[in-house]
Amino acid sequence: MILDGKKTSSQIKEEIKEELKKIKEKIGKVPGLAIVLVGENPASKIYVNSKIKGCAELGFESFAHYLPENVTEEDLLNVIRDLNADEKVDGILVQLPLPKHIDEKKVVETIAFSKDVDGFKPENMGLLFLGDKNSIKPCTPSGIVELFKRYELEVEGKDVVIIGRSNIVGKPMAGFFINEGATVTICNSKTKNLAEKLKGADIIVAAMGVAKFVKADMVKDGAVIIDVGINRTEEGLFGDVDFENVAPKCSWITPVPGGVGPMTVAMLFKNTLSAFKRNKKLV
Ligand code: GUN
Repeated sequence: MILDGKKTSSQIKEEIKEELKKIKEKIGKVPGLAIVLVGENPASKIYVNSKIKGCAELGFESFAHYLPENVTEEDLLNVIRDLNADEKVDGILVQLPLPKHIDEKKVVETIAFSKDVDGFKPENMGLLFLGDKNSIKPCTPSGIVELFKRYELEVEGKDVVIIGRSNIVGKPMAGFFINEGATVTICNSKTKNLAEKLKGADIIVAAMGVAKFVKADMVKDGAVIIDVGINRTEEGLFGDVDFENVAPKCSWITPVPGGVGPMTVAMLFKNTLSAFKRNKKLV
C-alpha cells in the first residue's frame, strides 16, 4: 500500500494554514521564512520555488535571496547575519548543496539557533539525539516520522536499516528511530553484505542517491519501504528503490514523486511556525 506523502502533506499544510489564520487574527503578525539559493543548480531551484510558492499559499511571508554561483563566502555569511538580525525573519533556510568554494559548516554555524528551521545546527542535531521533544528537527526525517505517525505504523521494536549516512537524512533519521525504540543499522555504499542486512529489515530507508538500487530480492516480505531518492536519469525520475518490483512485496511504500518530498516541505513550514511561536513567546 502507498504511503501518500502528497495527500498527508496537504493535510498538514491545511492545519498550518488554519493556525496561521488564527494567529494573524490574534496578534496581526505572520511568520517569515528567508530562503537563500546560491547558483543555478536546477534541482535546488525547483525545491526553492516550491517552498516560496508554499509560503504564499499558507500565509507565510517569504524573503527569497538569489546569489550568484561565484558569491564569496563572506558575502553569503553577511546575508545570513542580516537575516539573523531581521525581526521579520523567523526562519532561515540556505538551500544545500553549496558551491565548492563555500564551507557549508561555516554557513550552518552562522545561522542563529532560534532561526535554524532546517535543524542542521550542531545544537539542534545534539538535542535530537538526546531525545529533546522541543528541538527543531531536520525536515526530511521529520516528515518520514510524521508519515509513520499518521498511518499509525509501529516503530518500537522494529529492525530499521538506513542506507545513506548524510547529515541531512541518514544520521538524523537514525536519531529519530532510536528515540522511538527501534533497532537501527546505518549502512552506506561500502557496507559489506548490504543485501543480507536489508533482507532482515522491517523498515528500510533508502537515501543513498542511486536510481532503483533496492531490488525486490533484497527486501523481506511485508517490509515498510521509505524512498528518499530523487534521481533524474535519461529514462525519467526514479527513487532509490525499484518501485515496480518492490511494491508488490512490501506492506507499505512511499512513491517517487509524491512520497517523502512533499512531506519534507510540509515539515519546513511546521518548523517555521514553531520557530515563530517560540520567538514571539506564543508557547
Ligand atoms: N537540500 C536537500 N535537502 C535539503 C534540506 O532539507 N534543506 C536544505 N537547506 N537543503 C537541502
